[in-house]
Amino acid sequence: MANIGVIGTGYVGLTTAVCFAELGHSVVGFDIDKAKINTLSSGKSTIHETGMSELISKNLANKNLSFGNDIKIIQECDFIFLCVPTPQDADGSADLSYVIKAARDLGQLLKKNSTLVTKSTVPVNAWEDVVAALNRNDVAVVSNPEFLREGSAIEDFFNPDRIVVGCVDDSKAKLVSDLYKQTDVETIITDNSSAELIKYASNSFLAIKLSYVNEIAALCEAVGANAKDVLSGMGKDSRIGSRFLEPGPGWGGSCFPKDVRALRVTAEDNAINLSLLTAALESNEKTHRRIVDKVEKELSNSLIGKIISVWGLTFKANTDDMRESPAIAVIERLIGRGASVVAFDPVIKNIENNKIKIAKTLEECCESADAILILTEWNEFVKVNPESIKNLVKNKIIIDARNFLDKDLWINSGFKFIGNGWQ
Ligand code: UDX
Repeated sequence: MANIGVIGTGYVGLTTAVCFAELGHSVVGFDIDKAKINTLSSGKSTIHETGMSELISKNLANKNLSFGNDIKIIQECDFIFLCVPTPQDADGSADLSYVIKAARDLGQLLKKNSTLVTKSTVPVNAWEDVVAALNRNDVAVVSNPEFLREGSAIEDFFNPDRIVVGCVDDSKAKLVSDLYKQTDVETIITDNSSAELIKYASNSFLAIKLSYVNEIAALCEAVGANAKDVLSGMGKDSRIGSRFLEPGPGWGGSCFPKDVRALRVTAEDNAINLSLLTAALESNEKTHRRIVDKVEKELSNSLIGKIISVWGLTFKANTDDMRESPAIAVIERLIGRGASVVAFDPVIKNIENNKIKIAKTLEECCESADAILILTEWNEFVKVNPESIKNLVKNKIIIDARNFLDKDLWINSGFKFIGNGWQ
């Protein structure tokens, strides 16, 4: 059991703090946001993650988890995990100001011979800036990137594909990997720069893979092939793998777009042109346009004055995150072509963008719709009985950009059903 401090209780920090407490460590979570600390200290989760509130309450009750707004609470900790934001600057580079400020402040406070662990996604070689800002030669800096997906963060913490730790001193890296108590999981012990790059290179590769998947879906439609079969056939090759092969309205979220742009800047700063990253970003935009084209095609090639009922606003199901959501990108293009959009999402009840009308119910969302467009794969939508809405819509047309509704159920109710990647 170790004394662990977590700086920043956002999506990554909160998951890290709670899951380490669940593993039996003594954990304190610090955040500058007092309101967030009060919510967490009351046992409530500040993020939409299944099971998070239960784990918070359990570990608060066990007294091996606490939250505080005074950074001095980490002074007795042996390991301090830096989980502060690294937002995207205008040029796409990662803004390290929060990381550097935290390292500087911690340099004054950390216990002798403790270990600072950078979990925030930081550009390659940022660890050198952290070492300089920390200014403590008795404190090791270990790079330990996270691979948590929103909506399955707790599951991913306890079932990682690998644990990556990087440090100039392998023994310090090993001490950090031992905290996870995952003896059956492969641990990559490497240097700091390699650990930092594994994160960016992994996320960027997944984004490139998805851009390719969406382009293959477009080709399938053009040649009369079936993307489900083509991609399933591809995925049987163990070198490709069967996961992350679902066509959609494009990829988004708080990580992929940011990480792809940041890696491209890192490469450019080192006179390397990662052209595939630019291609993946441009391809993703093309996919947004293609989904809008599909809707337009079903409505006599004009969206002017049409009402589109959009199901799903978040960047994927089982999250409340709309950062860089492809759904929003598609909706903005629909509106740009003259359509009115009424959207329904199981967790999003209001948004800043006043051009998008938010319906309180799915039925309200369907009223007088010229077409229904599915953009996020919420399970709630699978359970909808077409009979319950077919008399609400103006046209019985449904475009499922996620290929996840039961096609036959809708066709049997008299709907024209259009998928993504097949005729
Ligand atoms: C991602 C990485 O998976 C995770 O390892 C990293 O730590 C953070 O970034 P996340 O952003 O939560 O996680 O989303 P993810 O589940 O990876 O999906 C990213 C985007 O790809 C979403 O828009 C999703 O809808 C889309 N996607 C995913 C597809 O379109 N098809 C797929 O088959 C899978």
